[in-house]
Amino acid sequence: MLKPHGQEQLLRFWGELDDAGRQQLARQIEAVDFEQIAALYEQRSETHDWAALARRASPPHAVRIADRIGKNADEGRRRGAEALAAGKVGVLLVAGGQGSRLGFAHAKGLFPIGPVSGASLLQIHFEKTLVTARRHGASVPLYMMTSPVTHDEQVAFLQEHDRFGISAEDVVLFCQGTMPAVDAASGKLLLAERDSLFLSPDGHGGTVAALSASGALPDMRRRGIEHLFYLQVDNPLAPIGDTEFIGDHLIADSDFTSMACAKQTPHDRLGNFARIDGRLHVIEYSDLPDDVAERRDASGSLVFWAGSVAIHIFRVAFIERMLALKDALPFHIARKKVPHVNDVGERVEPKKPNALKFERFIFDLLPHANNPLVVEYAEQEVFAPVKNAPGARRDTPEYVQRFMVGQHRDWLRAAGTRVADGVAVEISPRWALDAEGVAARADRPRSIDKTTYLNDAI
Ligand code: UD1
Repeated sequence: MLKPHGQEQLLRFWGELDDAGRQQLARQIEAVDFEQIAALYEQRSETHDWAALARRASPPHAVRIADRIGKNADEGRRRGAEALAAGKVGVLLVAGGQGSRLGFAHAKGLFPIGPVSGASLLQIHFEKTLVTARRHGASVPLYMMTSPVTHDEQVAFLQEHDRFGISAEDVVLFCQGTMPAVDAASGKLLLAERDSLFLSPDGHGGTVAALSASGALPDMRRRGIEHLFYLQVDNPLAPIGDTEFIGDHLIADSDFTSMACAKQTPHDRLGNFARIDGRLHVIEYSDLPDDVAERRDASGSLVFWAGSVAIHIFRVAFIERMLALKDALPFHIARKKVPHVNDVGERVEPKKPNALKFERFIFDLLPHANNPLVVEYAEQEVFAPVKNAPGARRDTPEYVQRFMVGQHRDWLRAAGTRVADGVAVEISPRWALDAEGVAARADRPRSIDKTTYLNDAI
């Protein structure tokens, strides 16, 4: 099987492996699509010329914040609430990532981000989903994607915490697929150990294939879920259950609706919404040439202002259609440093990128979507991702906690509570989901002068 592909090196240590090692390696090899890997390696230098595409791109049509304030948002909220109450909306949480960039040796979802409570990212997302379901009197199932290295740990964590109050039948965990890494010079697959390929998660675009392979799609059909609210685990501000966002998606009859925030600088590390040849795309920050990123219009505003905060809603029927369309999601090829075992059995820790990794991105579905929509939100309301270890300029735990405290303080002040400056206050989603939830609490404090965590027992 390996010979026609020139990949026999994978069996170099076969003679010295025990039974378990042989079984593991054989299983991994069987799962590889060698033709696909060969084709990806062949076209490694001919993937999209983003620089050329970006130069003829134009900014996306979008619902800007000013339009949202001006228009009658009530209709959107009404439609969103209706869909939630009818049990047509599920949540899709992508949580395959590890906390390695943060210096946290666990799945990122376990990271204790609550500024006062130390609540984990998973706790916050689960409680928002639970409260959304309660508020609308319907079930809101949570589909959560893990990865091979984070799966068992997250399953155990959720079990230990009783899924933070969501019933077992409303939580569907599924694991994303993996892709091998290949040596950049030869195209040969790399071994992580003598009895194991080097495999890494296939990107959040792997969600589509994993939803299908895991049986989650039939589960959605059975429950009548028609739309999925997509978020990534690193952003505790993601407004799960935002009725206006869901309503805008429904009113536009969109397959794929995305949230955008206005970039603060041309080089913010965000994907960029852009129209190319009449279709909507996201161009990754790393693919956007500087001169295009820095373009400004007559009023001095950035032309490519719309940063992707990785929050979307998509129609389940659209995902099903994409499954039928082979290669709807192309692979992106990244040069990375990949430690491995070489031909003579030595461990190699490369100092320079030595290998190619293949990943799919969920936003590459956008150009296939009918009536795609981009809706602008204010960053402080919806986006503060935990990505970097302390010391970085932004997206560190401390940065995210500042956003969380700022948002909760604003909600309380808007509802009439006096909050002393500089005081840390955190609101559990169980106490109130949003500004509206805070305003509805008759028992909210009149004033807060010391560190406070507002929380309700389940
Ligand atoms: C990502 C987006 C970027 C967006 C930004 C917003 C990509 C390529 N870029 O950047 O357009 O503006 O987020 O925060 O996505 N994940 C998996 N499995 C994978 C890969 C990722 O579950 O195989 C999850 C991780 O848990 C993580 C999230 O996806 O929470 C984001 O991945 P990350 O690699 O951190 O993307 P960014 O480079 O930050």
